[in-house]
Amino acid sequence: MKLRLALKATASAIVLCAAAPLAQAEEVEVLHWWTSGGEAAALNVLKENLEAKGVTWQDMPVAGGSGVEAMTVLRSRVTSGNPPTAVQMLGFDIKDWAAEGFLGDLSDLAAEEGWAEVVPPALQEFSKFDDKWIAAPVNVHSTNWMWINKEALDAAGGAAPTTWEELIAVLDKMKENGIIPLAHGGQPWQDGTIFDSVVLGLGDDFYKAAIIEQNPEALSSEQMVEAFKRMEVLRGYFDDNFSGRDWNLASAMVINGEAGMQAMGDWAKGEFLRAEQVPGEDFVCIRFPGTQGSVLFNSDQFAMFDVSEDKVAAQKLMASAVMDPAFQVAFNTVKGSVPARTDISDEAFDDCGKKGMADLAEAAANGTLQGSMAHGHGASSNIKSAIFDVVTAHLNGEYSAEDAAEELAAAVEAAQ
Ligand code: GAL
Repeated sequence: MKLRLALKATASAIVLCAAAPLAQAEEVEVLHWWTSGGEAAALNVLKENLEAKGVTWQDMPVAGGSGVEAMTVLRSRVTSGNPPTAVQMLGFDIKDWAAEGFLGDLSDLAAEEGWAEVVPPALQEFSKFDDKWIAAPVNVHSTNWMWINKEALDAAGGAAPTTWEELIAVLDKMKENGIIPLAHGGQPWQDGTIFDSVVLGLGDDFYKAAIIEQNPEALSSEQMVEAFKRMEVLRGYFDDNFSGRDWNLASAMVINGEAGMQAMGDWAKGEFLRAEQVPGEDFVCIRFPGTQGSVLFNSDQFAMFDVSEDKVAAQKLMASAVMDPAFQVAFNTVKGSVPARTDISDEAFDDCGKKGMADLAEAAANGTLQGSMAHGHGASSNIKSAIFDVVTAHLNGEYSAEDAAEELAAAVEAAQ
């Protein structure tokens, strides 16, 4: 009896010893760009989960949709030799940081928790480098969506558009009805987000050739001229104040009925939910007309930096918390995205979320799942910036559609 007690005491002492360094290290510093209402609400789920596990959250928010500004701040932090524990990051950026040797190694944890079996291959492409896990995926977003004010749609005839021509007819009707047909924020990444959908609307093969393969003929083709012409048509439905507007303010215009619709990734849904709007009742989610059956994805991942030994335990706790199935449900139902794991039921998701999950599975099975250029999964950062420059300059009237297609091919070539 005595011996057993003694053994027990020794065992607890060992546990305590093992836990002691952990307790000191339980803090994560997280750099991210989730600053809008819906984004912050989703991030809070993670903060609270970690805090419940005794991990203190040092917040490092850098506002700016799609993370352009966040990536600049990150560069200066890393250059000064002081990387954060974890950084929200998109596709090709993760690979770049890994190639430069700045990321840690989550492979043991990934093996222990069986990540390889549940994370879709399209995401693993960016969560792993040289066979090592370097990032934990939080979600799958998709850019080829439109968000429509239900009342405005009803006033415009009630039928959600399924083709380019139907889209234009609905936009015309909304204009006639005296509202701003298309809410847009003129920032390069938002222009690029619409461009993603417009190019995809001209065919999966065209998107693949022009954006993923960066084939010079596709980039300067007649089809690309058509894509730029469509961008001009869409621009005709923006209001005069679109320049520089943040994406969530454009979502707010649809939410309050000032505008009819917004072409934006499904993080926009987070704003509608935050405003207590219900899909199907207050707003309608559709695939960008002409892109049904296809999905342009991006995935927010927490890239884990190669931090000092005393920070590794907390970093792993965070990675494990991110991959937890219950967290993936709690976070993604608020964020507008869908889980980064294939073993999660769609039960807790609303109709748009259910559609997002079904579309993703279908597109993955049919070969119509491709990376979003505008959100770092279709092309490297250099090429993405080169495309943004031309798309934005054209949208602001600097080039004709014909010249824009030529400029695009030249700019992409120069960025390679
Ligand atoms: C995307 C990101 C989303 C959302 C959006 C707007 O790149 O994947 O999570 O934050 O930018 O900021």
